[in-house]
Amino acid sequence: MNITVIQADITTLDVDAIVNAANTSLLGGGGVDGAIHRAAGPELLKVCRTLGGCPTGDAKLTKGFKLPARYVIHTVGPVWHGGTRGEAELLASCYQRSLALAESVSARSVAFPSISTGVYRYPIEEAARIAVSTVGEALQQGSTGEAVTFCCFSAKDLAVYEACLSQLKPQ
Ligand code: APR
Repeated sequence: MNITVIQADITTLDVDAIVNAANTSLLGGGGVDGAIHRAAGPELLKVCRTLGGCPTGDAKLTKGFKLPARYVIHTVGPVWHGGTRGEAELLASCYQRSLALAESVSARSVAFPSISTGVYRYPIEEAARIAVSTVGEALQQGSTGEAVTFCCFSAKDLAVYEACLSQLKPQ
């Protein structure tokens, strides 16, 4: 099962696809969304304007333009409201739909940021558990052949993801 965890700026990764933690407009924002649009250049926003937005829990694919990554998969995570509005299922869906889109373009390497854990305030421990278990299940089912990288921005998040991953891998 090829899952790794690193601490890096996701816009620098030379992988087939990076995942963007976008909003439903797909018209850019702050955080990793802002970083990806800055690094990809204005062509990305031009294309995103044609996509008609994206519902929470779903994902849409574009090219990477000036990014090292060939593709950007824009997914919209849930805003955390305390866990009573289906946030866990919506977050899991972001990973599932993103992997499905990666598979659809035969992407062999995919990097995820920690979706919803910034502006959308999803608690990092629970979000990381969902991310790692959802991706682990997809890879085990063989539905996706990708090598998946969780690209954390902070050392704190890196430690949380590493702890989750160590629980996933067979001892
Ligand atoms: N590379 C990797 N991870 C990053 C980067 C980067 N360059 N910049 C930020 N991050 C991390 C944050 O530290 C956080 O751990 O990405 C994670 C997700 O945080 P946000 O970018 O705030 O995304 P999210 O919580 O899903 O909120 C999405 O924020 O930027 C807006 O338009 C976006 O409205 C949407 C909302």
